[in-house]
Amino acid sequence: MDQQPSSLHVLIFPLPAQGHITSMLKLTELLLPAGLNVTFLISAKDHDRLSRFTTINSRLNCYPGFRFHVIHGLYEGPLDTDEKLKTMYDRLTEVTKPLLSNLLLHDSKVTCLIADGIYGYSLDAAEGTGVPVILFRTFSACAFWACFSLPDLISSGELPFRGTNMDEQIVNIKGMEGFLRQRDLPKFCRFGLNNPTMQTVMNATRRTPSAHGLILNTFEDLEGPILSQIREYCPNIYTLGPLHAHLKARSESNSTFSNSLFEEDKSCIDWLDKKEPRSVLYVSFGSITIITREQLLEFWYGLVNSEMPFLWVLREDIMSSYGDNKVPSELEEASKQRGYIVGWAPQEDVLAHPAVGAFLTHSGWNSTLESIVEGVPMVSWPFFGDQQINSRFVEAVWKLGLDMKDTCERVIVEKTIKEVMEVRKKEFTDSAFGMAKLARESVREGGSSYSNLDRLVEDIKIMGARSKEIILG
Ligand code: UDX
Repeated sequence: MDQQPSSLHVLIFPLPAQGHITSMLKLTELLLPAGLNVTFLISAKDHDRLSRFTTINSRLNCYPGFRFHVIHGLYEGPLDTDEKLKTMYDRLTEVTKPLLSNLLLHDSKVTCLIADGIYGYSLDAAEGTGVPVILFRTFSACAFWACFSLPDLISSGELPFRGTNMDEQIVNIKGMEGFLRQRDLPKFCRFGLNNPTMQTVMNATRRTPSAHGLILNTFEDLEGPILSQIREYCPNIYTLGPLHAHLKARSESNSTFSNSLFEEDKSCIDWLDKKEPRSVLYVSFGSITIITREQLLEFWYGLVNSEMPFLWVLREDIMSSYGDNKVPSELEEASKQRGYIVGWAPQEDVLAHPAVGAFLTHSGWNSTLESIVEGVPMVSWPFFGDQQINSRFVEAVWKLGLDMKDTCERVIVEKTIKEVMEVRKKEFTDSAFGMAKLARESVREGGSSYSNLDRLVEDIKIMGARSKEIILG
């Protein structure tokens, strides 16, 4: 791609949460070598953590056209409940809506705003400024499409749910007939039509067609049929994923571009080095999931009883309540023999390690893609949001593992792990390898995501040329 310095300037604005920042930073690192300048909006706390725990500054300082714009005064607590999500969102709107308008109106150099698709208000902030907005949705296409289809579920009477049978089929999301159940819709659908998260997500998603384009961190071979549905409403889609693999492919580097907001404990790699190929279960529930002590113990017994070696990420803040933190001695003893527990892992490197045989995951979209690229089958236990849909696609559509959603009873945890890692190991490994090959091809020269990134850069150049023509009259 073009390496010359340019006047093209992209403003990138993610939701202040790990999964959103990580994928939008990967995009940033793909745009900079193409000669675009980038300003990345970030909260003070996240900026501090990135600076402490990653090499982001040394990676990006070589681009004179890059800067972080640090935002102060945002909510920076946990995001595991609707109330906390609402607090975060309200505060974010209050602080960043005027900030965005100001940057777009008074910084005449902004060529294009790439904003997190979860904010409809980015479109409002850009209105009248002449700056085109491209929305980046960090979800899967299937989760985006389900959220886009929520008004159809409401008008057809499928929402709010009638009765208590969560296995009842959902029939009014085109392309998902026959396998989608009530329990597979985003969790906020369970709490009635006035749930604030549902309203926010539904309204923001329905505004997407007003944007200049839509970026999705996915690839055509994975989600082609659902992408065709979305294109009926949003014809200009840039599928660029899996972004982490795309960045590696373009940089021709084998090293990982970590954007962790937590300190990675790399000692787990030494532990993995001593294990047999594809023998270890990697367990992580991402950056937001909170579990109760009862759930923690059920998982723990399930892991230990499965008798598989396991590497488990237990974030310091993963438990919802404190109280009795003592762990039964039999669990401690078994974990010493077979397990390794860290507060935060270098996940991309862990999943790429030959010793890892399966991933017990919360089905966050980044984690799902990272697992797909490495050909690692999944045991899914979705927590909230898009994760419920992702895990259903993992099992029912892509056949890459099993979905344990809505239960973590120890016997089920044990049985599901054994099913994926022993009984049906070959079946899942074969399909995971097949999908990994397609994922890697999509980000190589000639692949769909590779071509779409080139197209995005060209489109931003055209936007730049147009805005120059307007300024020159
Ligand atoms: C959430 C949603 O679930 C996700 O689908 C949405 O698109 C963004 O917000 P999160 O819960 O953080 O994100 O999960 P996920 O999307 O999987 O992102 C977690 C990231 O943290 C991954 O890139 C993963 O590699 C990284 N991670 C996680 C680590 O580096 N180390 C760990 O120990 C755990």
